[in-house]
Amino acid sequence: MSNHRPDVPVAWEFFAGGGLAGMGLHGWRIGFANDLDPAKGRAFRENHPEVTFHLGDVGALTPADLPGRADLAWASSPCQDLSLAGARGGLAGRRSGAFWGFIDLMRALDAEGRGPDGIVVENVCGLLTSGGGADFAAVCAALSEGGRRVGALEIDAAHWLPQSRPRLFVVAVRGDAPPETTGPDGPFHSSRLIAAHDRLPEAVRANWAWWSLAAPPHRNLDLATLLEPDDSVNWFPSERAAAALALLSPLHRRRLEAERASGARRIAAGYRRVRIEDGIRTQRLELRFDGLAGCLRTPAGGSSRQMVVVVEGSQTRLRWLTPREAARLMGVPEDWRLPPSASAGLKLMGDAVAVPVVRALSEGLLKPGAGRRAAA
Ligand SMILES: C[S@@+](CC[C@H](N)C(=O)[O-])C[C@H]1O[C@@H](n2cnc3c(N)ncnc32)[C@H](O)[C@@H]1O
Repeated sequence: MSNHRPDVPVAWEFFAGGGLAGMGLHGWRIGFANDLDPAKGRAFRENHPEVTFHLGDVGALTPADLPGRADLAWASSPCQDLSLAGARGGLAGRRSGAFWGFIDLMRALDAEGRGPDGIVVENVCGLLTSGGGADFAAVCAALSEGGRRVGALEIDAAHWLPQSRPRLFVVAVRGDAPPETTGPDGPFHSSRLIAAHDRLPEAVRANWAWWSLAAPPHRNLDLATLLEPDDSVNWFPSERAAAALALLSPLHRRRLEAERASGARRIAAGYRRVRIEDGIRTQRLELRFDGLAGCLRTPAGGSSRQMVVVVEGSQTRLRWLTPREAARLMGVPEDWRLPPSASAGLKLMGDAVAVPVVRALSEGLLKPGAGRRAAA
């Protein structure tokens, strides 16, 4: 406790997974973290032993479990739990989803006068339209309770990292407000965000702010720069590679042939998708040669694990993306200790928030006001 400085802002990390949000919160002290998943809890504790980590359901937490006070609560809540259908499925008046458990906790802290001034909720962009916009309205309304103003940004991790990973960040702040613009402006106020804002009920819009975050400089990394050396990974045997390539649609096969014809070494991310073709569900291998990996996902059912495809002359080699490569695609430093099993490592990274995106939000929006409050 002796190293706790009153001028350093404090953040609590909910739905913490492996703690990637906290990794992006440079200059903050993570005063508390919570997650339900024992495997993620092990990874969190191993990598962030200095943080008080609580394993269990956020809905079972009470203010008494939380130490002191925090300037910020970060919540990367699971997307399915934001649905109003889930939240209202329980007993009358009793919120049941994980997100609503988190909101109940923030309300209880506000009632005690020690709710965080800032709250960030990260979710998939589908939140903008799910329930015809009612879910987004409910989230914004809940976050703007307690005198907070709320705004959102749609940010693709591809601005910083070679991974296409668009995510929605709903940011609620009271007191010293982050920089804002009078209307939508800049790359993170996407057209679907603007449309979702326009659908909000008037009472919710009254508390809205267009938070202003500058785009970063051009990204210099691409997928190839993050890969392990070719001689240190396990390539698919030829029959398995052929079976995977047999899943290419005519379009993706033409794409592969065009890259092959260039004669240069080309690298693609490959992922399997089920497409409906002539009314039939068909599994396909899709390739992207634009220097980006597709969005990392959790490996449920195995089909979401990405492949690395290397084309060199007449040779095409395939292999799985490794957990360490997945960690690099999330902006995780090399000394971060991965879980022992590949599937746990890939699940953790597929669920996580990209570190440089959190850092950009922290530096551009969250830290300036929190720093002033912490120093006061
Ligand atoms: C989208 S992931 C967030 C991961 C995290 N931001 C990271 O960077 O690793 C959602 C997390 O919520 C956790 N979770 C789901 N339901 C929960 C609940 N009821 N209480 C606490 N944690 C929960 C899951 O175990 C998962 O790690």
